[in-house]
Amino acid sequence: MNKKEKILVTGAAGQIGSELTPLLRERYGNIQVIASDIKTDIPSDLKDSGPFEHLDVLSNERLFEVVKKHRITLIFHMSAILSASGEQNPQHAWKVNIEGTRNILEISKDSEVKKLFIPSSIAAFGPSTPREDTPQETILRPNTVYGITKVAGELLSNYYVARYKLDVRGCRYPGIISHKTLPGGGTTDYAVAIFYEAVRKKTYTCFVNKETMLPMMYMPDCLKATLDLMDANFKKLQHHADFNVAGMSFKVHELAREIKKHIPDFTISYEPDYRQKIADTWPRTIDDSAARQEWGWEPEYDLSSMTEDMLKELRRRHQESGL
Ligand SMILES: NC(=O)c1ccc[n+]([C@@H]2O[C@H](COP(=O)([O-])OP(=O)(O)OC[C@H]3O[C@@H](n4cnc5c(N)ncnc54)[C@H](O)[C@@H]3O)[C@@H](O)[C@H]2O)c1
Repeated sequence: MNKKEKILVTGAAGQIGSELTPLLRERYGNIQVIASDIKTDIPSDLKDSGPFEHLDVLSNERLFEVVKKHRITLIFHMSAILSASGEQNPQHAWKVNIEGTRNILEISKDSEVKKLFIPSSIAAFGPSTPREDTPQETILRPNTVYGITKVAGELLSNYYVARYKLDVRGCRYPGIISHKTLPGGGTTDYAVAIFYEAVRKKTYTCFVNKETMLPMMYMPDCLKATLDLMDANFKKLQHHADFNVAGMSFKVHELAREIKKHIPDFTISYEPDYRQKIADTWPRTIDDSAARQEWGWEPEYDLSSMTEDMLKELRRRHQESGL
């Protein structure tokens, strides 16, 4: 990506946006990166380190105004309603994820925006998808509204690449584990909550059962995947907005066992709720060979190194200021 790009991040206050934005500002300069979100309670480090725009992606006028005012050339479209929240309010999830994404693509087509990142998710898969080593090309028949919007987002993005020559890229993120901003209502949130509760209370009640195994990724790898894909040579890409990317896969009791190595008196219990049903429709492991071949994807963290780093960071924060 060119140093002169003017970059807009939507959903910048979310779990991923709140870590992607500072990284982009470090790379491209604070004033080059415009953070935006529908939220108004924005952490000061995000608001004070560069331009911030209050932006609802459902408002075309406002979106146009922001893109024009800052002469945006590149967009990271991170705003969305996630899987568990989506099942609580499917109409809203449809609106934000479908209309919001279409607005972003339309504005880009008619402005100076040349390149976009629009994430998909492992939620694009469904109960009829092979769950082991889920292939790049496979059955996409999700049964959550979030998953349906993610499949539509992939297809629409690929359509804009083919029809309008817009450079749209995206990957099917697995569950993202991080310690800066709490996740925003996804089915994989347990893999973050377990660390907070382990540090705070040494015990955790999990909302999926102990055998549940889902693909996950540590935030540094998520950011690496995002930027590596955006840096890749367009000519080498056969896929665009729908790359499988894998980090690690583990069962909940394996994660608990790893945490116990650092906190021996940690205990876990299980009270599966509606999110179990969603988890049961998603892959256990992912085949990401297309990402590896087309843009050199390789994750750095596994279960053991991620656990060590998460606990180190959360313990430090717990001691400094509580969690
Ligand atoms: N975090 C994960 O585990 C995960 C996994 C797979 C895919 N993804 C995808 O990555 C992207 C970012 O996810 P995240 O985890 O940071 O989500 P998040 O829920 O933490 O953040 C989303 C942000 O979007 C904002 N938003 C909601 N409605 C909006 C609107 N109408 N206009 C503008 N902003 C709005 C929210 O205020 C929030 O700050 C999403 O597309 C998500 O589907 C995330």
